[in-house]
Amino acid sequence: MSSFTIFGGRALRGDAVCQGSKNSSLPILAASILSGGEIILENIPRLSDVDATLKILNYLGCKTKRENGAVVIDPSGISASDIPENLMREMRSSVIFLGAVLARTGRVELFSPGGCEIGLRPIDLHLEAIKKLGAEIIDAEGKIVCTAPEGLTGAVISLSFPSVGATENVMIASCLAHGRTEIRNAAREPEISDLADFLNAMGAKVSGAGESTVVIEGVKRLHSATHSVIPDRIAGATLLAAGAITGGVVRVNGLIPAHLAPVIDIFEQAGNEIEIKSDSVLLRAPKRLKSVKTVRTMPYPGFPTDIQPPIAAMLCKAEGTSVMIETIFESRYKYIGELIRFGAKVRVDGRMAVIDGAEKLYPANAVTPDLRGGAALVLAALSAAGESTITEIKHIDRGYENLERTLSAFSAEIKRTD
Ligand code: UD1
Repeated sequence: MSSFTIFGGRALRGDAVCQGSKNSSLPILAASILSGGEIILENIPRLSDVDATLKILNYLGCKTKRENGAVVIDPSGISASDIPENLMREMRSSVIFLGAVLARTGRVELFSPGGCEIGLRPIDLHLEAIKKLGAEIIDAEGKIVCTAPEGLTGAVISLSFPSVGATENVMIASCLAHGRTEIRNAAREPEISDLADFLNAMGAKVSGAGESTVVIEGVKRLHSATHSVIPDRIAGATLLAAGAITGGVVRVNGLIPAHLAPVIDIFEQAGNEIEIKSDSVLLRAPKRLKSVKTVRTMPYPGFPTDIQPPIAAMLCKAEGTSVMIETIFESRYKYIGELIRFGAKVRVDGRMAVIDGAEKLYPANAVTPDLRGGAALVLAALSAAGESTITEIKHIDRGYENLERTLSAFSAEIKRTD
């Protein structure tokens, strides 16, 4: 069991470079199997979720390697169209292979990913949409078999909620479909635009990504491509929050600041000074953080649910009371019980968390419940004067590349024990 030992209480200072986006990398890696030739992907972070995705690609028959900092995929040898249950369980977002494998082989067999630490995570929207594209679906006790031996056919798909994963699955599945697909009420996250850029680099015809209606004109085949994934806005915001909670001055380079607009607004409301350059954000924390207006998580361009835990941690040190409302995932407050060990004063009532800022947090031993909740605990430990331990950091490794090394660039004292 790995853990972090953190000697907190010092203001963080320095520059760090933001990693590539996890949430872009996973669908892009899955979509690479549509290509007739070699795919070169740059800026893919080293994460356990990426390793799990590469394992699935290898199982399906792709050759994958890391070369000069890029991931190189040769999908020409695809021979399987099933994803075994153990690989599905390793990473819940493996459902992103649904559209890709179906489009490539005319068939896919996988297991429903089931609920996870942050919520139920049903995949009904994915399945309904794939059905609209003409696939036949058998869903028996969690095992899902989709077939479309003659290929998929374009359709108009109206999502009842702008699900990120369902939008991505339809975009990937419909690239090689006969005719035109229109996704209405599509998710607008930057990762959707990144996926569209990658699909188009392979020769697909995707337009409207980043808007509510995405149109995909099916093409006969896709070809080799090179693509660099966008910076990880969630990891970037977490690093800025580390500067804020410790009263420090930090700069995160290699970012696309526009992707962080709703988060930057909260940092500013909390009294942080922000300097934005074309690809970096500098945060200068105030002497004492201030409470902010109610933060409500929403689909992009709203405030991201993934940044709710790190920002909640920051607000635990703000003068006054802040309120967070989590509208996306129903179980996203599990970390709050652990945050309280640091002396945070937070009450949770259903989807609402009421945070009474404390002047100080105290060192504690805490257990990571999930990926972003784990990041919130690391932030609390960085701000608490003394030695804290955070265990079960395998959750953190799913989404933060070598977090201890990145934070060390800010002179944080953090050590991993395996
Ligand atoms: C993606 C991100 C995740 C982020 C989330 C919301 C990846 C790998 N993960 O997850 O980090 O927190 O977007 O920005 O990119 N829903 C249904 N039925 C469905 C699909 C979704 O009810 O078929 C619900 C979910 O339970 C959830 C909400 O819709 O309550 C949002 O889910 P969705 O946008 O699909 O998130 P993911 O793609 O799973």
